[in-house]
Amino acid sequence: MKNLTGLSIKTEQNQLFILDQTLLPHQQQWLPCQTVAEMVQLIQNLQVRGAPAIGIAASLLLAYRAEQGDSRQQLRQDAETLRLARPTAVNLMNNLDCMLQALAADDFVATAVACAEQLFSEDVELCQHMAEHGAALVKPGEQLLTHCNTGGLATAGVGTALGVVRLAHQQGKNIQLWVDETRPLLQGGRLTAWECQQLGIPYQLICDNMAAMLMARGQVDRIFVGSDRIAANGDFANKVGTYSLAVLAKYHQIPFYVVAPHTTVDPHCPDGSQIPIEQRSANEVRGATGSFGTICWAPADAPVYNPAFDVTPASLVTGWVLDSGVLDQAAVAAGALTRLT
Ligand code: MRU
Repeated sequence: MKNLTGLSIKTEQNQLFILDQTLLPHQQQWLPCQTVAEMVQLIQNLQVRGAPAIGIAASLLLAYRAEQGDSRQQLRQDAETLRLARPTAVNLMNNLDCMLQALAADDFVATAVACAEQLFSEDVELCQHMAEHGAALVKPGEQLLTHCNTGGLATAGVGTALGVVRLAHQQGKNIQLWVDETRPLLQGGRLTAWECQQLGIPYQLICDNMAAMLMARGQVDRIFVGSDRIAANGDFANKVGTYSLAVLAKYHQIPFYVVAPHTTVDPHCPDGSQIPIEQRSANEVRGATGSFGTICWAPADAPVYNPAFDVTPASLVTGWVLDSGVLDQAAVAAGALTRLT
């Protein structure tokens, strides 16, 4: 396997390493990953996370197992095990489908390795294209807002929504970014804040419930979020809290964009009601776990509801920023998302 270098996934000397995102921003620890069981754990614990990143990490692990001499039949079973690691991000399923096709080749080891490498480098390019299309929408001096983490940690490249913000910043547009902390797992507070700091993007961290007030005061000009799955009609799933932002944006007449590569589009899913939503453990809401250890502020047995994602209806979206360009409501209503390749 080639040496590949991303912010959260890398291969070196034929080994796969994952940056443990649960320890960020305070510790940077690269974990070797060699087995399917380890990869499933890393994905379920959100040590590797973000829709494109989990698909690429799972594919690279399969390629690694192929190089280790696993049989084609074993690799096919492993692909099915990896597919079930998390249910919402369709990138995982889409990437594993590519790997299964590669495994059908006579020379399946070389073909699987080439396929996983291609998925990595393709994502770098897709991120760059999305960043260019999205940054073109941003006007100088705008105050932007984002949710969760959609940057280099969540992809192989510059990211989706955060890639747009990053490029607008690098283009000298003098933007400011409001970063939602993103309860319960604080991907904004821990990860997006860390990436902004590394990149010199001017940002301020806010609690999720502060966004409404900022919008009412005219301090948010444009919102960019990522997605884990976009249905054929344009409804999309993203980190829980995205839907409330979209409702607020509509009320305050603020443009609201979803930024995602075509690998996040599920043309077989007719609308948002059909997107499977991951339910996660109660302790994530009762308290928090991180490099600081575990704290619990709720009663230890407090009943909890903890969906990891919510669905934003297409009617609340101003534009779908894809690697191929920006689709508006009319294009999506005419079926443009079902014709992507
Ligand atoms: O649970 P997570 O942290 O994997 O959720 C991630 C998100 O919701 C992101 O917004 C989405 O995957 C797009 S990342 C480019």
